[in-house]
Amino acid sequence: MAELQEVQITEEKPLLPGQTPEAAKEAELAARILLDQGQTHSVETPYGSVTFTVYGTPKPKRPAILTYHDVGLNYKSCFQPLFQFGDMQEIIQNFVRVHVDAPGMEEGAPVFPVGYQYPSLDQLADMIPCILQYLNFSSVIGVGVGAGAYVLSRFALTHPDTVEGLVLINIDPNAKGWMDWAAHKLTGLTSSIPEMILGHLFSQEELSGNSELIQKYRNIITHAPNLDNIELYWNSYNNRRDLNLERGGDVTLKCPVMLVVGDQAPHEDAVVECNSKLDPTQTSFLKMADSGGQPQLTQPGKLTEAFKYFLQGMGYMASSCMTRLSRSRTASLTSAASMDGNRSRSRTLSQGSESGTLPSGTPGHTMEVSC
Ligand code: BEZ
Repeated sequence: MAELQEVQITEEKPLLPGQTPEAAKEAELAARILLDQGQTHSVETPYGSVTFTVYGTPKPKRPAILTYHDVGLNYKSCFQPLFQFGDMQEIIQNFVRVHVDAPGMEEGAPVFPVGYQYPSLDQLADMIPCILQYLNFSSVIGVGVGAGAYVLSRFALTHPDTVEGLVLINIDPNAKGWMDWAAHKLTGLTSSIPEMILGHLFSQEELSGNSELIQKYRNIITHAPNLDNIELYWNSYNNRRDLNLERGGDVTLKCPVMLVVGDQAPHEDAVVECNSKLDPTQTSFLKMADSGGQPQLTQPGKLTEAFKYFLQGMGYMASSCMTRLSRSRTASLTSAASMDGNRSRSRTLSQGSESGTLPSGTPGHTMEVSC
């Protein structure tokens, strides 16, 4: 019988014919830089073209993280502070990310011609399968803010087998009622489109405080070269249909959901109501103190930690992948969870600047965390 021999493998990737190891290293570095910068693609869909940017490489047997931004923003202005946050790196190195820009919101987008029929939010959701088909991705964990949270929820309702989990920040699942319309019309008499959108994104306290962050986003929106396109996305958001979510009914999100809202956010009541319509065993509710209207911009650390627990509950972040700090918290939280005894009620996290309660993706677990 032939003797087994130990084989030493020194090169992970074979060299191309005639390629020196130095050249191979340089090529790998160039490829990594490209991936770190993201690769932007556009696909045609029945409702027009859509642009998205992919970061990282697909990981076998793992869903992609797919983000959808709010009105007045694009994927970078909405998500860059969160995805480039230090602690986020240990999460995202395990996932490929697909950041969708709503049509006409991508950097350098030309202004749509007058009379252009902008897609409804439902149609924006119907464009997502074209993106996934192009990339050959079969499932996603969605992260959406405001209008983007609505789009991803609609997508999850129509494609429940494709959406493994949802992080929904500032979601309003209801169509505007006549009272909302009256208020909207009145505001429109005295406010410009950028001011109305800023009022949707941030709390009144934040806007009047006029912090550097507010100045930055006011500047971005007011001077956006594609402001006419932004107005079209804004109109689609205001004309959204009711998602008609019903706890225990036919129309409900089937996957684990983490609802997030700032405790002074303009959409606090809507998110609370949304929580009441979702399956409590699948839903975690994170109300964040001191975070204003855009927690992913102002509190990326807290959100990262909550996201980590959410993914861990879904079985995607082994505690060995987590920082020592997170691991020790998890250990102490597991015992808190088993004492909690509320296995079937929804998990509410009221996360103060000092302490709070964090959900795990495992139904009924309540975790405490200090941030
Ligand atoms: C990412 O790594 O997913 C990312 C990087 C920059 C902006 C947004 C997202």
